[in-house]
Amino acid sequence: MKTTHTTHFRSATAMKNIPDASVNLVVTSPPYPMIAMWDEALSGNDPAIKKALEENRGMDAFEFMHRHLDTIWDEVARVVTPSGFVAINMGDATRSIGGEFAIYPNHSRITMAMIAKGFTPLPEILWHKVSTSPNKFMGSGMLPAGAYITQEHEYILIFRNGGKRVFKNGPEKERRKASAIFWEERNRWYSDTWSDIHGIRQETGDKSIRQRSAAYPLELPLRLILMYSAQGDTVLDPFSGTGTTMQAAMVTGRHSVSYETEEGLAPLACERAHRAPELSHQICRDRFEGHQRFVKERLASGKTMKHTHSTWNLPVITAQEREMVLPLALAVTGDIVQFTAEHAPFTPETPIPRRTPDPESEKKEGTKRPGQMSLFD
Ligand SMILES: C[S@@+](CC[C@H](N)C(=O)[O-])C[C@H]1O[C@@H](n2cnc3c(N)ncnc32)[C@H](O)[C@@H]1O
Repeated sequence: MKTTHTTHFRSATAMKNIPDASVNLVVTSPPYPMIAMWDEALSGNDPAIKKALEENRGMDAFEFMHRHLDTIWDEVARVVTPSGFVAINMGDATRSIGGEFAIYPNHSRITMAMIAKGFTPLPEILWHKVSTSPNKFMGSGMLPAGAYITQEHEYILIFRNGGKRVFKNGPEKERRKASAIFWEERNRWYSDTWSDIHGIRQETGDKSIRQRSAAYPLELPLRLILMYSAQGDTVLDPFSGTGTTMQAAMVTGRHSVSYETEEGLAPLACERAHRAPELSHQICRDRFEGHQRFVKERLASGKTMKHTHSTWNLPVITAQEREMVLPLALAVTGDIVQFTAEHAPFTPETPIPRRTPDPESEKKEGTKRPGQMSLFD
């Protein structure tokens, strides 16, 4: 199987290259309104935002910034298939404007906007960002009553475009079966609180780009793609940044389309693409070995497992897991305009694929050690 991964360096306000009703899943993290680093990106050509901020009208600026995002949600509504999903990672913003401290509830505003566009809101995920830095106290410290709650979580808002997805008999149903996840993964991932995914350090040499990239950890789009789409589906990220969603789509056997205004992020996205084969092997192996450990512990505790996977000779809890395939990305070719990934089913005997050489990033990277990577970077 082959998948394609296209990136357009232009604004997602007009995603003309994407036909109507052609995207199965959107996974994204937009610039956060009222977080100062995004003021410029969200002001676009709208002087009203700058004026509102200058005149200390925080809630007006907040609303105007969301109206800009609304134009992109309109495009999202146009391109998502009936029964397709949208997963939006978003944090609320705290900010003092003209000496007045307030929370700007981005997640509520986006939820209402998506409902207005006809999406059905589904239970959301609270991403408790594990942080190694000490708690940041805001306000009057130890003295009541002027201290403020520290924001330690973000949201992953989930929407569906209409009713439940129906898979047709034949190849579509087969794809769905192949895309099953392990029972024990289901138990961990379909929880309304994720506390096991760390936020990440930014990773580019250019300070201004570093500050704007705000990449999320690979594990986040990876899980969402495995939870809400099938192999061979198309995933869109209208705010692709360093290409984390594209990389997650490559390692899970989905097509992807990305939009991004900052061309300076292209080398980082290319680097991600070329690392996909190695990463995908690591991810398949982690999932497979994780399941082996789960089986061992379960059987050791005296519990039984009724079913066996159809090719791995490995017990599974449910019949739904019997036909699951872990899709390995064997190779990635092409460039940032369009990459092609070649996939094959993972087997425990699969040899580790070599990193696809990318002459440009090789030159920049110098002496990076093979295998120097982490699933959570
Ligand atoms: C929070 S970052 C996304 C980071 C991304 N999830 C990653 O892991 O690298 C938001 C991105 O949206 C981009 N952006 C802002 N306005 C945009 C627009 N109108 N169309 C497309 N991209 C935009 C910014 O340049 C930034 O890279």
